[in-house]
Amino acid sequence: MHKEKQHIAIFASGGGSNARKIIEYFKNSETIAVRLVVSNKKDAGVLDIAQLHGIETLVVHRTDFAGDDQFLLELSTRNIDYIVLAGFLLLVPAYLVSAFPQRIFNIHPALLPKHGGKGMYGHFVHEAVKAAGDTESGMTIHWVDEHYDEGTILFQARCTLAPEDTPEDIARKVLELEHRYYAEVIEKTITEMA
Ligand code: GAR
Repeated sequence: MHKEKQHIAIFASGGGSNARKIIEYFKNSETIAVRLVVSNKKDAGVLDIAQLHGIETLVVHRTDFAGDDQFLLELSTRNIDYIVLAGFLLLVPAYLVSAFPQRIFNIHPALLPKHGGKGMYGHFVHEAVKAAGDTESGMTIHWVDEHYDEGTILFQARCTLAPEDTPEDIARKVLELEHRYYAEVIEKTITEMA
């Protein structure tokens, strides 16, 4: 029986190195397609990456997330099945979580529940890990609920830290894990749910 492709929308606020990995990973997939890239920043690097790969982009303003049906319409007209947050810094509002229950992935650059929550993103996370004197860090892929970084954990990968590692060293180690696993975990999870 022919099963239609599952459509993903990637949401990202920054450079988009994870988004790029995901786009490349699914480029020739017969089951999953990256259909849309959404950013809240009109000059985000991720938009250039999407355009380079011929993927439609959408810039949204903070207020678009406030509960307007228009944004849901943007997603439904493109038959979006899953949302993938890749360095997306706005809180996902409740109406979007209920429209996509267990269908919004997030990646966090630490081993949740440690070093998560509001304001904990990017370098702030790695600085907190360093300040805590942690001997390991890693990344967490989890479902998104209405709270920052609290949804069910799907996957974690760890890396060992040396005492002399700077926050930049930690960031590099963690990003390597993110690039290695995010697309694979998305694929496995979606395939198992189909
Ligand atoms: C990634 O390390 C991701 O885990 C982090 O932002 C970075 C985005 O990098 N996300 C958060 O901190 C969310 N709390 P990228 O734009 O190169 O993919």
